Order: sequence, then structure tokens, then C-alpha cells
Amino acid sequence: MTTDREDHWRKVYSDKRPEDVSWYQPAPEQSLLALDRFGAEPSQSLIDIGGGASTLVDALLARGWDDLTVLDIAAPALSASQARLGAASADVAWLVADITDWQPPRRYDVWHDRAVFHFLTQPEQRAAYVRALYHGLATNGLAIVATFAPEGPERCSGLEVERYEADRLAAALGSGVKLEASWRDDHMTPWGARQTFTWCLFRRTD
Ligand SMILES: C[S@@+](CC[C@H](N)C(=O)[O-])C[C@H]1O[C@@H](n2cnc3c(N)ncnc32)[C@H](O)[C@@H]1O
Repeated sequence: MTTDREDHWRKVYSDKRPEDVSWYQPAPEQSLLALDRFGAEPSQSLIDIGGGASTLVDALLARGWDDLTVLDIAAPALSASQARLGAASADVAWLVADITDWQPPRRYDVWHDRAVFHFLTQPEQRAAYVRALYHGLATNGLAIVATFAPEGPERCSGLEVERYEADRLAAALGSGVKLEASWRDDHMTPWGARQTFTWCLFRRTD
């Protein structure tokens, strides 16, 4: 049985090409910047939460990362990435799962989330995400989380979002991770609309 949320996202990726969604970016510049800035290495493991059809995985494979996982609620999003990557997709672990209903089977050195946490508008959804984060992030691991900023859009893909300043996002993720850096970035949609994001870098402290 599928949930409304899963149906919504499956339909988005079934109806639209990856380049036609508002969050499309030709290159994952801020993510790569964050990884470089905090010394993440290709020998480490990384999971892209709600990775959708993002090309982050392509960029990391090209840099020699070989322990990559992409998780998304929408199977068609992952199929689009697999088709784009071709044979190289066999070097990536693909997981169709709802992050609010997923128990990580292992720990990752890097947890990456661009534009997923902000869809969790209910406290119990956020609590489930934080539980998964704490189970899935290695000691001293890095969590890169990007949400819409307070001046960003109120909705995305027809869904309400929660918008964050860095300190409010840090409070939402709890004391198991420590905020090490934050910055704003304006994403331009494929049709030229500006969307301001809050990017945060957290370190798992225990
Ligand atoms: C705005 S898109 C961002 C996609 C990708 N991170 C990027 O930067 O291109 C949000 C993504 O989160 C996925 N998603 C939404 N809710 C989710 C959930 N509860 N669990 C897992 N993935 C989810 C959607 O299917 C979609 O791919």
C-alpha cells in the first residue's frame, strides 16, 4: 500500500523530467563546496537523503567516491538517476524509503539532505527523521542539511514547507549534532525564480 506522500512524489517524477522541477540544478555546487570545506574524502561513505534525481551522485562518482547510497520515497526519481548513470549505477546503493519510517541498517560518514527536511511539517515526522539521523550518522560524521530560509518559498511542489534559520534548524535536529557552519544560497529555478536556502553543516559529537 502506498501513502499519499509517496503517491505525490511518485507522480511528480512520473509527470516531469528531472530538468523541469523547481529544485533542479545542473551541478550540485553548494553540496560539493560543503564537502570540500569540511574535508570529506572519497574514501568515506555518504547517504543522500531524498536525493531524488539529483546529479550529486554523478559528481561524487567522478571524484572517486565508492560508498554512496541514495534514498528517496519516489522510485521513479531513482530510476531516472539509474538511467542517466547507466552501468555506473551498479556502484551505488539505491533505497526506496520514507525517511520518517526508515531504520538505517548501518552508519554513514556523511548525511546529505538538500530540500527534504523542510517538508516535515509535523513534529512526529521531524522526530522520526532525527531518530534516523542519529542511528545513521557515524561518530564525528558530517550532516549537510539545506532547507528553505525564512525568506524562501512557503510551498514547494504544491506542499507546505517549514522554513529555517540555522539556529532553529539546529534546535530541530537536537543536541546529538553540533552546528559548525551555515550560509545562505539563492537557488534559481529552471524558470528563473529565486529561492533562498539555509545551508547548515553539523558534526555528530558523541
Ligand atoms: C525538493 S526535492 C529535492 C531532491 C534532491 N535532494 C535535490 O536536491 O535535487 C525533495 C525530494 O525528497 C523526496 N522526499 C520527500 N519526502 C520524503 C520522505 N519522507 N522520505 C524520503 N524522501 C522524500 C522527494 O521524492 C524528492 O525527491
